[in-house]
Amino acid sequence: MLERLADIEKSALEALGSIQDNDALQEWRVTHLGRSSPLMQVFNGLGQLAREERPQVGQRANQVKQRLEGALVERGESIRQAALARSLEQEKLDVTLPGRPFRYGRLHPATQTLRRVLSILADMGFQVYTSREVESDEYNFQLLNFPPHHPAREMQDSFYLEAGERGNNPLLLRTHTSPGQIRAMREYAATNPDNPPPVRIALPGMCFRYEQITARSEIQFNQVEGLAVGENITFSDLKGTVSDFARRMFGQQARTRFRTGHFPFTEPSAEMDVECFVCNGKGCPVCKLSGWLEILGCGMVHPVVLQNGGYDPRRYTGFAFGMGTERQAMLRHQIDDIRYFWGNDVRFLEQF
Ligand code: PHE
Repeated sequence: MLERLADIEKSALEALGSIQDNDALQEWRVTHLGRSSPLMQVFNGLGQLAREERPQVGQRANQVKQRLEGALVERGESIRQAALARSLEQEKLDVTLPGRPFRYGRLHPATQTLRRVLSILADMGFQVYTSREVESDEYNFQLLNFPPHHPAREMQDSFYLEAGERGNNPLLLRTHTSPGQIRAMREYAATNPDNPPPVRIALPGMCFRYEQITARSEIQFNQVEGLAVGENITFSDLKGTVSDFARRMFGQQARTRFRTGHFPFTEPSAEMDVECFVCNGKGCPVCKLSGWLEILGCGMVHPVVLQNGGYDPRRYTGFAFGMGTERQAMLRHQIDDIRYFWGNDVRFLEQF
């Protein structure tokens, strides 16, 4: 029996020597110290032994049990140490490395320009009025005095929406901010139909035209529209307002000029140019050698449009102007291609 115990001890310790992980260690414990292990069978068989053999075998069996238990604890500890050493080696974290730089966001250059234009107009008393981007033909064209099939529509090729049969009033993406004039006037007029209040608003937002995309034209762009309606508003007010705007936007020395223009919803209509600040009017590639840069369209609100907005044209007059803000950003920063704005290239965007 004593030899048997010596064998049990020897083979158990041998088996333990090759164990590398906890699972195997638990298995070993069950096999060599568990209830049906050979060692426990020796304990269970003690009663059948001869009386004089019992103390010696019992003592020896206890010794083996203690050794095995001791070895188990030791092995467990060394497995834990090895695992710790391995993870320290593999998952090295060098706390002396500099952190990853935090990249700050910023406003898109188009948004920056839009806000600049709006803040200048706010200083001049124009309140922001936001209107919708999806419009009906009626608001985008008809109420602005573009009859169906009128050739003036050709200046503004449109994206139409599939919205069922709507006759001559299909839905489209607005081609300019001017339909907001009608919406705003109607809203103001509704507050007091017999005596509508004066209007002085700035209408910002995205516009869409079905155009060939080139360095100078995009299918989407921001506009800001200005609208003033009231009694005794004259063309001089228009001219003073947009000229002052140009000086605030481009610098006090900025010179401007008016040219006649045509828009169905203003009469008379004009376009305003600002002296080219790249060449100071001498002529350069940016101004196409003319010395002038076109920055906005404007005019006195057409009587039909006033009427459509709920303002009696015998009593009220008004002026309106509209400008593309990406164009202004291009002029300010000398950006030579409008496609950069919506190309989402951070190398461009990060410069502003
Ligand atoms: N809506 C015109 C355009 O997009 C600009 C404009 C606005 C002209 C207001 C006159 C008055 O071209």
